[in-house]
Amino acid sequence: MIIISDVVKSYGNAGNKNQVLRGISLRIADGDFVVILGASGSGKSTLLNVISGLEPPDKGSVVYGTSDITKLSDEKLTQFRKDNIGFIFQQYYLLPNMTVEKNVRMGADLIGNREYRKMINAVGLADKAGKYPSELSGGEQQRVSVARALAKKPKALFLDEPIGALDEQTGRQVLDYICGLHKEAGFTMVMVTHNQNIAEMANTVVKMNSGKVSEVYTNKTRKNAYEIGW
Ligand SMILES: Nc1ncnc2c1ncn2[C@@H]1O[C@H](COP(=O)(O)OP(=O)(O)O)[C@@H](O)[C@H]1O
Ligand SMILES: [Mg+2]
Repeated sequence: MIIISDVVKSYGNAGNKNQVLRGISLRIADGDFVVILGASGSGKSTLLNVISGLEPPDKGSVVYGTSDITKLSDEKLTQFRKDNIGFIFQQYYLLPNMTVEKNVRMGADLIGNREYRKMINAVGLADKAGKYPSELSGGEQQRVSVARALAKKPKALFLDEPIGALDEQTGRQVLDYICGLHKEAGFTMVMVTHNQNIAEMANTVVKMNSGKVSEVYTNKTRKNAYEIGW
């Protein structure tokens, strides 16, 4: 369980303060697939960054099991993130001078996981392992970043608009890979999107509006990546 309590975060200085998260409380069950849905500028990315320990909140706590990550030293937080958290961004952030295999291995090496090849296979890139990011399509690059994030076997995977840069066919394929891996491995998955259709794939939907949670609901039936509207 991840328990987020009364999280507040602002940007800017005293004279020109922009309160981006205005008191967010949320519980995320282990193994759940949560979509955080909201318009652009509603604070989704900021919330994801705070939950995953990328950015500290001004106030409030983020507790994984029994550890409050907002109270950890920088060093301990870095270790916590290495041990527990995977992150996938809209931009793939692959290392351009490393092959697919090396990019994924970097993720796996963090915990000495030698099964990185399995992850490359799992995202359908076995035949591209020796290629460089510039030799791949956008969808293939995002699949590399999925493999890299999962190669270290995170307990929680965070995704910020993971298919925002992809066309429909590729977007559906990447979502399908991600959901297949989630089903198989059972990590906790929190995905940010402004796309209502994608929310129909989640188990739990958290709606955000102007820095607040406006609604939380569970989908009675869930659609797969090929059933949702686009
Ligand atoms: N690093 C930052 N510095 C200053 N303002 C920021 C920063 N990150 C986000 N913001 C502001 O916070 C608000 C919410 O941004 P964000 O969390 O990225 O929203 P979303 O992901 O829902 O589009 C926006 O008004 C944005 O301009
Ligand atoms: Mg965003």
